[in-house]
Amino acid sequence: MVDPLGVAIGLGLTLVAVAVHFTRGATWQAPEDISQQVLERRASTVAETGFPEPANRAIGGGGGAAVAAGAEGELAESGEAAVEEEGPWSLTDEEAETFEIEFVKEGETLEIRENETILEAGEDEGWDLPYACREGQCLSCGGRVTNGPSEDFLVHHDQQMLDEDEMGDGYTLTCVAYPKADFSIETRESP
Ligand code: FES
Repeated sequence: MVDPLGVAIGLGLTLVAVAVHFTRGATWQAPEDISQQVLERRASTVAETGFPEPANRAIGGGGGAAVAAGAEGELAESGEAAVEEEGPWSLTDEEAETFEIEFVKEGETLEIRENETILEAGEDEGWDLPYACREGQCLSCGGRVTNGPSEDFLVHHDQQMLDEDEMGDGYTLTCVAYPKADFSIETRESP
């Protein structure tokens, strides 16, 4: 049995609730889009490296920083790409001189053009030489010239790891090292 008084009270309370809603308005608001903040927070937690790294590039972290920090990849303030530094790496194969490099541990002597790195020449022989960045920013590809200071025999293209003393001891980064004389080298050697 329906109680008319209960129905009347229920109806009255409903009308009061509706009236309050429309006179004061709802206080709930949709949250702002935070997806950009989340991406930036994630990027800031990734360790920056000196060279592009797929995991960093994917979320805009170290890869971008590497471009900002890299000497060749650096953008000029005008927004235009900086001019590539001249060196033996700019020579054509016809222009480049050839030097004899003895790889002591491999037991071979190679003729290497001055526009070719020591690492590339060894790889062309099918040797499994170590490397990581290939940009002079780690020590993975290290080698040691046995004849004397490495810069007497090689031109380094933007190596950023070895100091003067280490190069004086013959150390080189083979991924950015271009020959300018005959010499002997021990691969897999780092200071
Ligand atoms: S591979 Fe990193 S410096 Fe050569």
